[in-house]
Amino acid sequence: MPIVTFVMPSGRVVRIEAEVGESLLAVALANDVEGILGECGGCLACGTCHVFVAEAFTRVLPPPAADEEALLDFAANRRTGSRLCCQIRVSQALDGIVLDVPGQD
Ligand code: FES
Repeated sequence: MPIVTFVMPSGRVVRIEAEVGESLLAVALANDVEGILGECGGCLACGTCHVFVAEAFTRVLPPPAADEEALLDFAANRRTGSRLCCQIRVSQALDGIVLDVPGQD
């Protein structure tokens, strides 16, 4: 199973064995990752699932769709690697991915 690592705003790090096909939002919520709220349940309405994807994996992921891009534009701390984790499905290609969780916007 792919290993996904979240680095939380507090500095706490959690490494999780994730199921292929589940969303990174579901992985985060199931493991009490601080700072990932997922208030809209993954329907691209809240932006509370914002993460920074480590550079090595930004090229592995498909680019964000237009509606994800539009919502990311509202994130005050958007930067290279910003993604909404509800839009990313775990795959074997993501084994080893590191996701930094931003602090409060
Ligand atoms: Fe709301 Fe991702 S959970 S946009």
